Amino acid sequence: MNTDAPLADEPGGGYRFLVNGDPVELEVPGMRRLLDVLREDLGLTGTKEGCGEGECGACSVLIDGAVVDSCLIPICQVDGHAVRTVECLAVGGQLDGLQTAFLQTGGAQCGICTPGMLMAARAFLDGAGEATDEAINEAIAGNLCRCTGYTKIVEAIARAAATERA
Ligand code: FES
Ligand code: FES
Repeated sequence: MNTDAPLADEPGGGYRFLVNGDPVELEVPGMRRLLDVLREDLGLTGTKEGCGEGECGACSVLIDGAVVDSCLIPICQVDGHAVRTVECLAVGGQLDGLQTAFLQTGGAQCGICTPGMLMAARAFLDGAGEATDEAINEAIAGNLCRCTGYTKIVEAIARAAATERA
């Protein structure tokens, strides 16, 4: 199933969208943050809150395949779209290649930035761009990490790219 495919326009109240491929319908205030809907209304606590101001990228998720800061997105803007969170990466208990690479390289330490990093990296790897260090650094430029110095994260993404594109 294409988890990035927008839903067809349907009549009725509330907001309707996909989360990790599953249809969701919610009656919530339109300005409620996507981050709060995910964590509090849907129980998807993998997505983290850092700054709450669009600066750190800890809350990064994908909407129709594009990386967004979920702390800045009101749920009314999500209506009819497809959201992917870090919970979509592991399937049937099997880690995504990116998650495995982060584990292997030590790309995750305290872990607060990791879900957002993984989603920014997922969007990058889902694209066709060459996985040079420069391109990877650009792809995660909106995601801050206080622990790793970024070297291990870039190494993990490059390793996952090499595996996926082999
Ligand atoms: S919590 Fe959203 S960008 Fe920092
Ligand atoms: S691993 Fe701690 S902020 Fe990145």
